[in-house]
Amino acid sequence: MSLQNILQICYIWMGIAALVHITMFFVTAPFGRHTTTKWGFSINNKLGWIIMEMPSLGIMLYFLIYGTYSLTNYSWILFLLWILHYTHRTLIYPFRIKSTPKKMPVLIVLNAILFNLMNAGLNGYFLAELSDGLYNEKWLCSLHFYIGLFLFIIGAYINLKSDSILIHLRKPGETGYKIPVGFLFKYISSPNLFGEIIEWIGFAVMAWNIPALTFAVWTYANLVPRAKNHHDWYKKHFEDYPAERKIVFPFIF
Ligand SMILES: NC(=O)c1ccc[n+]([C@@H]2O[C@H](COP(=O)([O-])OP(=O)(O)OC[C@H]3O[C@@H](n4cnc5c(N)ncnc54)[C@H](OP(=O)(O)O)[C@@H]3O)[C@@H](O)[C@H]2O)c1
Repeated sequence: MSLQNILQICYIWMGIAALVHITMFFVTAPFGRHTTTKWGFSINNKLGWIIMEMPSLGIMLYFLIYGTYSLTNYSWILFLLWILHYTHRTLIYPFRIKSTPKKMPVLIVLNAILFNLMNAGLNGYFLAELSDGLYNEKWLCSLHFYIGLFLFIIGAYINLKSDSILIHLRKPGETGYKIPVGFLFKYISSPNLFGEIIEWIGFAVMAWNIPALTFAVWTYANLVPRAKNHHDWYKKHFEDYPAERKIVFPFIF
């Protein structure tokens, strides 16, 4: 596939992200606290996470191993960051979340598989087959490489720490919800989602290519409405929910 084809797919895919973004403010994705039986057949929550995130990990590993590279192509750094994130999301995170009777609709799993096939496919193919000459020594010394890497690391830290706080809110055997406190929960309802958005913006700044930008746009499009759904859910379920707490961007939204 040519660069031109990949870019055309990216622009269409970003257009779809914009539509999904608007839709998600009206239709809540039914997993986690928002799960419902109305979306048809459901499977175990942990299994759902593993199945839906596996394509992203598998595709990037495939392109890293079987891609065609020159010796001066440092795109393996971008592969490594992506693979680290998705190794955690696919093989560690599902085993860290506490077991509850909640299930995940298969439709959500299928949607997420499509999301991951497209985003990992576009990014993996670009890095493995179309990036020769782009990720050289000059790139390693560029300002956007360091700014992007810094954002990626800070975002990953915020995401992991916030998810840990949430996961540890429940004592063994508990299945309900509590108001999270501390760290960035002082300012926003979903610092885990904020961290993930920062992380992939950082990746796009580092990589400085259209497929990486496309993935950052999709992450934003997905997670901002999800954070709004979480925030509204907290306000509905807890009368004493802190009024000053924003949704996902400290002091802003
Ligand atoms: N790249 C993307 O587009 C994308 C999309 C979706 C998610 N993600 C990532 O996947 C991770 C999970 O996302 P999510 O929206 O499912 O997160 P979440 O609703 O905040 O839940 C995270 C975990 O903490 C538990 N939890 C959350 N709030 C709690 C509370 N108040 N009291 C007790 N337990 C609580 C949840 O249990 P329950 O499951 O029982 O609610 C779940 O196990 C995040 O790191 C997110 O960034 C990424």
